[in-house]
Amino acid sequence: MLKFDFTNAISDNVANGVSIEDVKKISRRLHDFLESFRQGMPGFAKILDEQEDERRKIVDFAEKNQHFKNFVVVGIGGSALGVQAIKGALLHSEWNSLSDDERNGYPRLFVMDNVDPEHIAELLDIIEPRQTLFNVVSKSGSTAETMANYLIVRGLLEAHGLDPKKHLVFTTDPNEGTLRKISIDEDIPAFSIPPNVGGRFSVLTPVGLLSSAMVGIDIAEMIDGAKEELQSFLSQDDALKNPVLFNAALHYLYSKMGKNISVMMPYSNALYTMADWYRQLWAESLGKEKDLTGEIVNAGQTPIKSLGTIDQHSQVQLYMEGPNDKIITFLRVEEFRRKTVIPKLHEDKKTLSYLGGKEMKKLINAEQEATALALMEKGRPSLTISFEKIDAREVGIFFFYYELTVMATGFLYGINPFDQPGVELGKTNTYALMEREGFEEQKEHVENLRKNLKYLVM
Ligand code: PA5
Repeated sequence: MLKFDFTNAISDNVANGVSIEDVKKISRRLHDFLESFRQGMPGFAKILDEQEDERRKIVDFAEKNQHFKNFVVVGIGGSALGVQAIKGALLHSEWNSLSDDERNGYPRLFVMDNVDPEHIAELLDIIEPRQTLFNVVSKSGSTAETMANYLIVRGLLEAHGLDPKKHLVFTTDPNEGTLRKISIDEDIPAFSIPPNVGGRFSVLTPVGLLSSAMVGIDIAEMIDGAKEELQSFLSQDDALKNPVLFNAALHYLYSKMGKNISVMMPYSNALYTMADWYRQLWAESLGKEKDLTGEIVNAGQTPIKSLGTIDQHSQVQLYMEGPNDKIITFLRVEEFRRKTVIPKLHEDKKTLSYLGGKEMKKLINAEQEATALALMEKGRPSLTISFEKIDAREVGIFFFYYELTVMATGFLYGINPFDQPGVELGKTNTYALMEREGFEEQKEHVENLRKNLKYLVM
């Protein structure tokens, strides 16, 4: 179970904060959201029941292919961040450096997302294509970065005389797009991303589940966690007892008060990539020019990630004393998977002796609490989400909790959290600059924009 503590975000504790009365004033709209959700669930919730067959196929496929030494996910954005988040949270932090025995025979896991030529070349330096299975993930089957990386990988397989059917597996739309077509034409195995699930909401589809199963993560546990979260959300009408509604209300009300930044600060290295996943979900879902009536609203908060305790020595000074424009979400862990006790040494030195004999867990959690309290005293709102322990179930709860929360927040803003017109525009400009057929008009438009770049300073 995750625990949600909103105390330090409420005006009883934080000066000029959102009050319980403020939350109650929008409880009608929160209730409307819950009701509309009950009437028609979005795709990301429907998959929990609808993709059981697909999940069985994933487990079966993983069992048959675990002899590969490397599993490389080729994807970007919503087709990569969930994989990174799961890898960070649930695998040993040095997984790819462990021996085969230490990994219990499961493959190493890599993500090929960016099109930085050095990143790609260096990744390919350390994997042997014969021992590698590449999972090309793209819902549209046309994103330039993923397609370019697919071509690189395919070229590599061909150069080594390897059968693409044995070294490639696609995760894509069930019917549309180039990847699906190639998979049908060439009999390359492929898993489906349901058309009604957007990229950043797709972590609990084969997008995030195939790589998880390949490295021995219990995907059924992750889905059970998400189902548990869905039930808990549906069963609580009172916004003050429903963590999804309460959190959505706080973020919405604080953003209306000018807190345009939402920081997620895990006090756990393993949860740092979860904050990356959250950043995309929050930014792409809520950052919208227009609301559902077409009015210009420029909604959204800028999501920032920070790592405790490291960023106490980098960012927290700004959070404490800089512009009061943030709401901070701390993530903490009650039971870490490894126990580290600080040795009792130098007992005659006061600056060291208070640490000796204590568990490191006590130190990291004390630092988190101390920071939250200090921020509260400075009138800076925060909330704390506690993991009992980081495991597949709690990770599933977390993903689903935030998918619900971002949707609820979008409802309050009156925007569509499921589209990304801004991303699409950038993609179209890239096609134009890369001279893709059919984008000639856009190319002319982009060339005209370029002419305005008058202040190039060398
Ligand atoms: O959330 C989204 O929709 C985007 O971030 C996409 O996941 C990203 O652009 C990659 O798209 P695709 O999976 O179609 O290659």
